[in-house]
Amino acid sequence: MKSKVYITRKLPAEIVDKLSSHFHVRMWQEEDVPVPRNVLLKEIEDVDGLFCLLTETIDEEVLTKAPSLKVISTLAVGYNHIDIQAAARKGIVVTNTPGVLTETTADLTFTLLMAAARRVVESSDYLRNGDWKTWSPMQLTGQDIYGATIGIIGLGRIGEALVKRAKGFDMNVLYYNRTRKPEKEQELGIHYATLAELLQQSDYVCLLLPYSPEVHHLIGEKELALMKRNAILVNTARGGIVDEVALYHALKDGQIWAAGLDVFEQEPVPVDHPLLTLPNVVTLPHIGSASIQTRTNMANLAADNLVSVLNGNKPLTPVISK
Ligand code: DGY
Repeated sequence: MKSKVYITRKLPAEIVDKLSSHFHVRMWQEEDVPVPRNVLLKEIEDVDGLFCLLTETIDEEVLTKAPSLKVISTLAVGYNHIDIQAAARKGIVVTNTPGVLTETTADLTFTLLMAAARRVVESSDYLRNGDWKTWSPMQLTGQDIYGATIGIIGLGRIGEALVKRAKGFDMNVLYYNRTRKPEKEQELGIHYATLAELLQQSDYVCLLLPYSPEVHHLIGEKELALMKRNAILVNTARGGIVDEVALYHALKDGQIWAAGLDVFEQEPVPVDHPLLTLPNVVTLPHIGSASIQTRTNMANLAADNLVSVLNGNKPLTPVISK
């Protein structure tokens, strides 16, 4: 008998066809509307596999409704939307999509860094609003990138990929990571710093660590106060790592210079959020991995994980496996 799979968002046909060739597939048919919680709680009741996105909270309540569930495959590298401990207790395999999004997310991180440093969005708005009356020496001047110091918090795959981009701009690279990586220091020509040292010395602070309750508001008032006045904070990891109220005040009071944010504590970020009123903030709607190729690769990997596990094989990229 074919296994049953539920997909929580409308996916490209090629991915659905791949899954349908193995399983009975049901899918939430909207592309831009998340599956309502009550629908998910109903759909999950008889399925063996779940293909979900980071927009769904897969907690104990969901898992309890799903007695046959064997595998959860999320279309993301970050899995803080899934209660991993509860899944492990129930013997459910959880998979994610590491690797395939590394370079694309590093590209976007560096894009945000450059856009914030050189006031790209603000300058574009300035022109379109008809404010460009003449050229002047200090008009819309930003910060230099080449030769500056970048501090990377979280030296995983994406952090390492960011180092390569930074090195191309002759940047001095500091990193802070839970475990120090001496071999990477040699290989990549980077320097370990404590969190406080990194914050004090960096012109750019990039957050690339996974979210967990332990790193909630890792960057708050105290940490922002350590940063240089010319510093730029870039977050392409998860919104909860930064205390947004403290960040708003630091940016408004000129305690730090700018921020580039792809992620927020609440997503979608409310349009009346105070951070969106500041000209020195570049904001994006969580598009770190959003290239056509990468999102397609992520969807294929997430589908292949389901195929593998439900056909009795090992998951390709497990977060946890039995
Ligand atoms: C992830 O994969 O965790 C990103 O946030 C979306 O690509």
